[in-house]
Amino acid sequence: MSETVLEVRNLNKVFGQGDTQVRALIDVSFSVKKGEFVLIVGSSGSGKSTLLNMIGLLDRPTSGEVYVDGTNTVKLSDNQISSFRNSKLGFIFQFSNLLVDLTVLENVLLPRNIQHSSQTAMTEAVNLLKAVGLESQMNKRANKISGGQAQRAAIARGLINKPTIVLADEPTGNLDSVTADTIVQLMKSMAKKLNQTFIIVTHDRHQFGEVDRVITIKDGRAFEGEDMPNKMEIAV
Ligand SMILES: Nc1ncnc2c1ncn2[C@@H]1O[C@H](COP(=O)(O)OP(=O)(O)O)[C@@H](O)[C@H]1O
Ligand SMILES: [Mg+2]
Repeated sequence: MSETVLEVRNLNKVFGQGDTQVRALIDVSFSVKKGEFVLIVGSSGSGKSTLLNMIGLLDRPTSGEVYVDGTNTVKLSDNQISSFRNSKLGFIFQFSNLLVDLTVLENVLLPRNIQHSSQTAMTEAVNLLKAVGLESQMNKRANKISGGQAQRAAIARGLINKPTIVLADEPTGNLDSVTADTIVQLMKSMAKKLNQTFIIVTHDRHQFGEVDRVITIKDGRAFEGEDMPNKMEIAV
């Protein structure tokens, strides 16, 4: 039986107050096991990014618990959260968020903290860049590569600290469909190769094909599986 790497318990997030109050997440509970490739799907405004931001410790819940690798993260101080986030979580965003003045290799090394010897880090970064097919581009500045290549670099950067979970919010949202497909396949193959947990938010479930799990968010509530009633409606 593989270990649980994430447990979300009775998570609630409320934005604003009074008339403008939004209940973005309502009593969300689920857990994820090591190596699972999980999609979070749902329509725009359903609460997908809010949920990912809570798991990524980028924002704090109004109530509820988020256990990452057994640690109850809501109990961590702001300082503890930063180092915990950097060591346990990898991030891939819709826009690759590379620093354009740095090379591709330097970008991949950015999340690596100084306690790792630089030679080891360098070797691991180069190996990751080979694995994502960017070996020949690694000494180029980040603004000299294509959007698809930038997203490959972002995947390598997200993996450099061997995180417990890689979180991706619409990682293909800014790519044409052919490039998007190669990025999806790359994430899936890296997940298999490294037994790496991925949690990916997308509004385009179709693009991902077969995955381990789908969690649907609807009006702030989470459901296991695909949104069947809507699918049937489309089929009719
Ligand atoms: N920082 C914020 N302040 C106020 N409301 C927010 C904030 N972030 C998100 N919301 C609201 O929470 C709901 C869920 O948003 P979000 O998680 O971004 O949805 P999704 O990613 O599924 O499109 C929406 O109604 C949105 O307007
Ligand atoms: Mg979103």
